[in-house]
Amino acid sequence: MLHYSFFTFLFTRGSTLLSPKYFLTHKSVHHYPSEGRGEERMRVELYHASKFGNGAKVAEELRRVMEAKGHNVNVHHIKGENPKKLPSADLYIFGSPTRFGKPIGSMRRFIKKVVLSPGTKYAVFATHGEAVPDKKTGKMPTEEEIYRWRKTIPIMDEVLKGKGLVKVADKKFYVLAETMKGPLKEGWQEKVEEFAAQISL
Ligand SMILES: Cc1cc2nc3c(=O)[nH]c(=O)nc-3n(C[C@H](O)[C@H](O)[C@H](O)COP(=O)(O)O)c2cc1C
Repeated sequence: MLHYSFFTFLFTRGSTLLSPKYFLTHKSVHHYPSEGRGEERMRVELYHASKFGNGAKVAEELRRVMEAKGHNVNVHHIKGENPKKLPSADLYIFGSPTRFGKPIGSMRRFIKKVVLSPGTKYAVFATHGEAVPDKKTGKMPTEEEIYRWRKTIPIMDEVLKGKGLVKVADKKFYVLAETMKGPLKEGWQEKVEEFAAQISL
């Protein structure tokens, strides 16, 4: 029996840019004029599988924040996308809702089929229902219970790292538990800023 009660149903570089080592190790990086800030501008492809729109909101806000930093970010819902033919990018971001502790099935299938060269950088985010007290007992779920219902990021990491991809950042976002459909818990935009700040090559 699945315990739904738990959820009541529950990102500079300056001089390195000129060094030979840089050119040897950063072949695929797209360089844009950096307005003298010495930052590496990235081309990013983001794939998410949002069902109720919360992950889509996170993705759009992340795009907005990263583009304000000069990066180029394309956001896609995975529906209709071919995981074997992803456009070339400096970094990929994958975002998934959670179902019974795991990434939603469509995202599990998508990342299993992803074809990217080993060493490719990625970041990942998950949306979760917030933890709330059990309706009957009034008790909050234990850390162990919470971990069991939030394995979305570790499961995605296992698949992506298994392909030799290299993680640069991850972040969890929470939706209010009442309906599990959202809205996102207050402060989510600040978390997007934190996440964007962690994402670098
Ligand atoms: C059937 C079902 C099962 C869910 N199971 C979990 C779960 O195990 N853990 C969790 O944190 N959230 C769970 N949720 C909440 C989802 O994570 C939440 O609806 C989703 O992240 C919202 O993102 P979206 O609006 O982008 O679809 C579940 C939601 C549904 C509908």
